[in-house]
Amino acid sequence: MTEYKALRHIPHANLFRQGDVFVLFGELFGRGYANGLVDEARAAGMTILGITVGRRNDDGSLRALTAEEHAEAEAKLGGRIVNVPLMAGFDMDAPAGEQNPTEMLSGITLKGWQEDKLDWDKIEACRQAGVRRFSESASQAMAEIDKLIPDGANVFFAHTMAGGIPRIKAFLAIANRIYKGRGDRFMSSRALLDSDLGKLILMNFDEVSANTLKYLIDASGAIRERITAKGGQVRYTAYGYHGTEVLIGDEYKWQTYTNYTQGYAKMRLESIAEAAWQQGIFATVFNCPEIRTNSSDIFVGVELSLFPLLTALKKEGGGAWAQAQWDTCQSLLGEGVSLQSILDKLESYLQTETSAGFRNYEAWPMDNTPELADLMIGTSDEITSLHTDKKALITDHLSALVVEATGPLMFHGAAEKIAPVLWLNHDIIARQLNELHK
Ligand SMILES: NC(=O)c1ccc[n+]([C@@H]2O[C@H](COP(=O)([O-])OP(=O)(O)OC[C@H]3O[C@@H](n4cnc5c(N)ncnc54)[C@H](O)[C@@H]3O)[C@@H](O)[C@H]2O)c1
Repeated sequence: MTEYKALRHIPHANLFRQGDVFVLFGELFGRGYANGLVDEARAAGMTILGITVGRRNDDGSLRALTAEEHAEAEAKLGGRIVNVPLMAGFDMDAPAGEQNPTEMLSGITLKGWQEDKLDWDKIEACRQAGVRRFSESASQAMAEIDKLIPDGANVFFAHTMAGGIPRIKAFLAIANRIYKGRGDRFMSSRALLDSDLGKLILMNFDEVSANTLKYLIDASGAIRERITAKGGQVRYTAYGYHGTEVLIGDEYKWQTYTNYTQGYAKMRLESIAEAAWQQGIFATVFNCPEIRTNSSDIFVGVELSLFPLLTALKKEGGGAWAQAQWDTCQSLLGEGVSLQSILDKLESYLQTETSAGFRNYEAWPMDNTPELADLMIGTSDEITSLHTDKKALITDHLSALVVEATGPLMFHGAAEKIAPVLWLNHDIIARQLNELHK
């Protein structure tokens, strides 16, 4: 069990400047967490480098980006992208001539998936093939990146990879039920975890969301040695999730989205950073708040805990700027709906026994229940319906604020070398935002 350590001060350590190099290990999407760090690196004048996960051909094979895709990705990042496909996971990998896990599972149905059995020796061979492919590509990409980093520079590696849901049609339907289903459509996350399909998915999550940090640390070993031998410093960060403290009844309390199936992989990610730290490699997993991004949109209700951030902004000394955030959020609501009424609804939601029953750090990540799905998805749907435009939600605005705050907290926090695992809760997010907008 990871020691719970929250960041309670705003870090100001300055290590990275012009001539230093920032490497994004993952692709950059419009709403993604990585934007916070990329903005900081850019503002500090660092050279920005990136990688790509590649794209799949129609036959499932992995390819590099086309010239057009490459140019577009580089423009979005504002830096060079090494065009070696780094798609993680082994759902589409197999030893030559064998079926990959996606092919093995192509026959599963919504009715029979819980009984379907997998051949674990074959799965292990696929996993090894995927790991080999990824590690070799990571070494190749790092050799290219090495050439772009001058002696004397400091280097910041930002890991952002998470995912691993295999592209199996029937599974998408199952996932929809587990993460979005209530009433008749409810499906138990425990049923998934107890099935062979679920076990395979957890293995793939481990590969994509956790082990890639280890492969990055290993593949960048030569860069690290060269840089440190010349007096430079190297840092690694990764985005974790392990619940967040938010204001409940005027006190910051740890709470979590349930069911977070990826939680096992996130705990493995924490242990990878801890092991690296013990070897003198400064890798920090920053456990970040729930926000809405391309990756989290499937988890209906994950966004609910964002609302109390508004209260935190005021509690942490927020002035005119904090009030302006309240005003912006109020303006997104339909006629006659007050922001306070939404915050009150959230407070009652967080105070219910159903919701409080999941505030158990030791038991994390807990299984979902029909009662929780009913309450959480119901509350989420209700609040969404009170907006003027379902495409302009309060939680979109608040997500962008959280991303903005995590940028400097992680950028300077990594420079300060505080600990291998740190929670960024609503208190520090609010304080950082208020400081940025003084
Ligand atoms: N959204 C949240 O609520 C939340 C909360 C805490 C932590 N995080 C973490 O933040 C990080 C960024 O996620 P985000 O929510 O900003 O979403 P995002 O969609 O912007 O980022 C997902 C990242 O994962 C990469 N990725 C996806 N599948 C991959 C694969 N098979 N192989 C290699 N890379 C793959 C993408 O290229 C991208 O860089 C993730 O580690 C995520 O778990 C998110």
